[in-house]
This record gives sequence, C-alpha cells and structure tokens, in this order.
Amino acid sequence: MRFEIVTIFPGFFTSIFENGILRRALAEGLVEAAVHDLRAFTHDRHRTVDDRPFGGGEGMVLKAQPIAEALESLGIAQKANTVAPAVSQGTTSVVPKDQLKEDRALAPAESPAPKESDSSASDGIGCLRPTVILLSAQGRPFTQAFARHIASLSHVVLICGRYEGVDERINELYCDMELSIGDYVLSGGELAAAVVIDATMRLIPGVLGNEASGEFESFGSADAEIATDVDGVPRSQHGAGGLLDYPHYTRPAEFGGLKVPEVLLNGDHLGIRRWRREQQLKKTLKNRPDLLENAALSKEDEKLLEVIRQKN
Ligand code: ADE
Repeated sequence: MRFEIVTIFPGFFTSIFENGILRRALAEGLVEAAVHDLRAFTHDRHRTVDDRPFGGGEGMVLKAQPIAEALESLGIAQKANTVAPAVSQGTTSVVPKDQLKEDRALAPAESPAPKESDSSASDGIGCLRPTVILLSAQGRPFTQAFARHIASLSHVVLICGRYEGVDERINELYCDMELSIGDYVLSGGELAAAVVIDATMRLIPGVLGNEASGEFESFGSADAEIATDVDGVPRSQHGAGGLLDYPHYTRPAEFGGLKVPEVLLNGDHLGIRRWRREQQLKKTLKNRPDLLENAALSKEDEKLLEVIRQKN
C-alpha cells in the first residue's frame, strides 16, 4: 500500500520513517510513502498557506488552493469527476524513486480489485482513486477496526490540517472522510497522520516479524476471526473481542521486590491462557469498562467477570 502525506512540515516525518518497523517496511517495499510539502504549491513570495477566517475569530485557516493543487498534482480529482494525473512537485520520497509505484500507473490487470469496503473510486480506466483522508479533531474516531480498513486499501492520501482548520471546501471537494485520533485538539494533523500510518502499517502482511502478533494485542480481531485453541478452550492470550491486552513480563523473574506471577513460570499452557484471559478482563474492567459492552465474551468469561466484580 502507498501513503501520500500532504503537510507544511515535511521534515516531521523523517525520523518516523527512519526508525523501527516503519523503516523496515519501507525498505522492504511492503509499504510506500511520499511526503508532499504544501508550500511547494504556493505562488507568492512568502509561500503563504494560511489566511484569516471569514466571519472573524481566532487563528488562521489553511487555504484551499495549495491543498487542491497538491492533490491535483497527485492526479486526485474532485470527487465528482476525474482528471489525468499531472507531474508532481515538492515531493520528498522516503523510499527510492524506483520503488515507488502509482496505483494510477498500474496496468488494469495489475490493479488491485476494488473492494466493497474500499472507498477508493474507479476512474473508469481501470485505476483507483486513492482514499483521501483529512486529519482533524472533527473527524470520525480512528480505531483498531478502522486501521484494519485502511490497511485493506491500496492508496491513501493523508492531509495534515494546521492552525484553526482547513478551508471546508477541501473536505467537500476532495476528501472521502475526516479522521480524528482522539478527543483532544492537537496543533496539527502530522502527529495524527503518524499514528494512523503506524497503526495501519503493522497490520499489513509481512510488516511484523510474527504475523499473528498484531491480532493478539489490545483491540485485536474478534474471536470469530481467530481459530480456537487446540484444546477446545477459547484462546485467552490475545485481545480478541475488543478487550485490552494482558500484562507482559520478561526476565528477571523478580524486580523491585515484585515476582512474575507463578503461573507464567510453570509451563502449564492451559493455566497460562486462563490467567491471561482473566487479566484481560480485569484490566478492561478497571481501565475501559465501556469496551465490555461490545466485547465477544464466552460463558466462561462472564463467570470470570462476575468473580472479578465481586472481589472488587
Ligand atoms: N488535528 C488536531 N487534532 C486532531 C485530532 N485529535 N485528530 C486528528 N487530527 C487532529
């Protein structure tokens, strides 16, 4: 999959792409990303990207014109119609140019089939319109389920908002959705874009060393999507059904006067699974009781939960 990031701070993404899993995913070509400097699409001496809000009020608003030009340079037309891709400017590729493929440049036979869940639209010549996302505090909430949705897309454009906001016409003309990473206001969409990219990339096959580990964390896939354990008991070592993850320990077995729970040391796999599931329920009840309402709980889970509630 490929990300295009439109931002006034292209340098922000350098360290993010040069470290950890993201660096490896980019180097191995599992993911492609390009950063587009919004100021490269201005035409005045001061490279102005913002202006005062109509109607008055605090702060500045990101102008529509540079963002529209940045998107059009990527071949992204307004939602109602399509135009041929133009040559892009102001692009910082974070992977070698020869590794960069445009969905639009793919022959129809090579193009990924549009999925029902894919909000990308066909441009009528066998190519997909990338999904255009505006990062904004006004957006729909970004969740693990939504990360899975984005990971299923082939080409995503992330527009990083700034100042008091982005001229709403960009949202109306080009964006498929607004996305918020939480109920707080950041000074810009760059951090949010980094969060979306990180959470999404790790779900792409091959990006994590252990293919399964993305599933076995807090907010992992629902139980139905994961095979049951060989012993016939529900798997309890993962974050299935929207529960938080269980606590993890590594050596030494004692630290700061605290011992690793005995059950984890004795090789009793069934006991370990049961303990981990109980811990998931405990932690979820304590920190995110709201998740329990929609969690996929077995009869055994319900019983455990009742015991935990009575103990508290
Ligand atoms: N820009 C400012 N606040 C944001 C948030 N919470 N999520 C995404 N983008 C933002």
